[in-house]
Amino acid sequence: MKLNSIKDLIKRNRDWANGIKKDDPDFFLTLSKQQTPDYLWIGCSDSRVPANQIINLPPGEVFVHRNIANVVVHSDLNCLSVIQYAVEVLKVKHIIVCGHYGCGGIKAALEDRSHGLIDNWLRHIKDVKRFNADKLLNTAHDEKIDLMCELNVLEQVNNVSNTTIVQDAWEKGAHLTVHGLIYNIENGILKELTENSGVTKV
Ligand code: CO
Repeated sequence: MKLNSIKDLIKRNRDWANGIKKDDPDFFLTLSKQQTPDYLWIGCSDSRVPANQIINLPPGEVFVHRNIANVVVHSDLNCLSVIQYAVEVLKVKHIIVCGHYGCGGIKAALEDRSHGLIDNWLRHIKDVKRFNADKLLNTAHDEKIDLMCELNVLEQVNNVSNTTIVQDAWEKGAHLTVHGLIYNIENGILKELTENSGVTKV
């Protein structure tokens, strides 16, 4: 589907809002007063991996942060601020790191050629490759990309779990679980890879 103008989008927005109001006339009014999501979603910016739609949840149910290849960098103030707000103010119960197979960011990081500025961001993926060199050694190139997509999720779950924010929350006894999921863009299915509820140190 190709849309030609912003007018098309405004029209689609009106139809969407009217559709929701038909089922629940107070939906937007109620939601405008507060948000109480139980989930923080950290996912890839890829247009094929939209957080709410994949888990079939309406507005108000998921707090979302997305970047290229769903990376959680130790010193990324953007991502850390999202995590802090989600954990300390919204008091989410679950943080989901969601990767996806066939991720363009992962593919680019595995290439030897230059991509410009983004290569600085993709360094973090190259680190994941280096940390897991033994697991990748005897893997064919096509499988390597998908395996790296999974290994990246595991690494980012580790990074979320080791933020001062999540460590402090666990220290205070918060019921907070960090989940690692991966999405298959070929069939729309999510798979759980790991979870960490702070019982064991990572
Ligand atoms: Co991606």
